[in-house]
Amino acid sequence: MKIGILTGGGDCGGLNAVIKSIVWKGIKEYGHDFVGFRDGWRGVLENDWQELTLDDVIDILPEGGTMLGSSRTNPFSAGNDPDNVKRTMEQENIDALIVIGGDDTLGAANKLYQQGVKIVGVPKTMDNDLECTDMTFGFMSAVQAATDHLDRLKTTARSHHRVIVYEVFGRYSGWTALYAGWAGDADVILTPEKTYSIKDICSYLEQRRQRGKDYAIVVVAEGATTTEMDEMMAEDEDTDEYGHVILGGIGEYLADEIEQKMDWQTRYIQPRHIVRGGTPTAFDRILSSRYGLAAIDCVEKGQFGKMAALKGQDIEIVDLADAVAETKTVPLELLEKAEIFFG
Ligand code: F6P
Repeated sequence: MKIGILTGGGDCGGLNAVIKSIVWKGIKEYGHDFVGFRDGWRGVLENDWQELTLDDVIDILPEGGTMLGSSRTNPFSAGNDPDNVKRTMEQENIDALIVIGGDDTLGAANKLYQQGVKIVGVPKTMDNDLECTDMTFGFMSAVQAATDHLDRLKTTARSHHRVIVYEVFGRYSGWTALYAGWAGDADVILTPEKTYSIKDICSYLEQRRQRGKDYAIVVVAEGATTTEMDEMMAEDEDTDEYGHVILGGIGEYLADEIEQKMDWQTRYIQPRHIVRGGTPTAFDRILSSRYGLAAIDCVEKGQFGKMAALKGQDIEIVDLADAVAETKTVPLELLEKAEIFFG
């Protein structure tokens, strides 16, 4: 068989490890041929690809980002013709696609599968917001990067007797903020799943100040809101081809509010893409490799419309349609466990 691979949506650590494991097993054990479409769905729509051989992937496992490039191209958005996916596959005699992406990229993949395109999905995103899998690859690499930032921010907050607010990616869920905030020993963690008032936040910080600590760290997910806000904060009104605005701004808002209400000097940080860049952790290198092996096995068995998934310690195969049905948000009981450590 001739198999196409594409990586779509926000990049993250582990993408290249997935590509390597698909191509490595696919060539060595199954004797298939591989092409890599450039920049996600754009490469498929425009028939823009490169051959993928063992030599092309031999050293890429530890490398951050994606050797194929990525984009937020949506085959079903105005100006694109989803039939070009089938046209490209027919022109290039490609039998199946392995699509590595998050809810947007895999949502489009599921629609194309429903139209007869042979597709297997691999769950990627630093947001960890895909259903049917315990964890997406890329998530723990982002959590580790953010946790390292928080360890560094604590020393400077302590030196300058400040509250530092750290606003982190995560789109509409708080997984990255919760895990990084918990691991980074933050004093308050704010997520879209549970809304606090400014008064609540200041009360937690005042508890800390009463214990003699004149510095604190607040971690806030970009999609979080306080009870005083009507909606999530966005950098501007423009939307991408999946209808998403660029979220951002709550960190600055919270820093200003805390400084005013508590007469406590604050600073805010928006690491944005820094948490996504760089080499994947060892955990993600293994998880990504396991996902890639499962995906090429699915293709070999003719199992399409499926996605590799992590269930506990095991890799299982789930229906793609179920995985993209809705956003996986942080359960309240986990938020309440993290809340024990606030203040
Ligand atoms: O979906 C991953 C993600 O990093 C989100 O957490 C974030 O809101 C978004 O991508 C940023 O998109 P872009 O990289 O297109 O600015």
